Amino acid sequence: MDILALIMRWAHILSAVTAVGGVFFMRFVLMPSAQAALSQEAHESLRAAILKRWQHVVHTCILLFLVSGFYNYLLITRHLHEDQPIYHMLFGIKFILALAVFTLALMLSSTRPWSAAVRANARFWLAVLALLSVVIIGMSGVMRALPHTPSPGNAPVMASDAQNPQDV
Ligand code: HEM
Repeated sequence: MDILALIMRWAHILSAVTAVGGVFFMRFVLMPSAQAALSQEAHESLRAAILKRWQHVVHTCILLFLVSGFYNYLLITRHLHEDQPIYHMLFGIKFILALAVFTLALMLSSTRPWSAAVRANARFWLAVLALLSVVIIGMSGVMRALPHTPSPGNAPVMASDAQNPQDV
């Protein structure tokens, strides 16, 4: 068993459940509840307290996504999908969408003035972030389901076994 590949897969999946789960909770549970239950002032101080802590989670998840994502792609999956342009096209699109997600997440969790305009419309941009994250996860599932292309290094891919023999 390739322990490092397993750890990278755990790191990638844990970052996804933490970051995407956090965005959904904030946009569809915390924000409407705070608006309904708190005064403007209390809401503002709650938001400042949350952003100060959530920022660290965002930075850690972005770092783990990049390290585990590049490890997955450069050392494992690109070799399993040689001569399969659709896989690499999906990876490219996913990577660009992930950069957009990372930029939005950094702007929404920052306390600096440079992204104040985005935070002023957090309700809209958090919804955009949630939607983009779902698209990325959907694409990742398609990438994972694509059969491996037969090549010397890859285990022969049986039609009946389209799932990934790379499952650690
Ligand atoms: C918002 C950011 C991202 C999310 C939510 C996300 C989510 C996911 C999920 C859920 C999987 C499937 C995991 C599994 O079943 O093992 C996955 C796989 C993968 N991700 Fe990401 N990811 C993100 C960013 C990235 C980035 C930045 C990279 C590259 C630098 C990357 C590269 C990969 C690769 C190569 C796979 C394996 C696909 C395969 O099985 O062929 N991901 N990602």
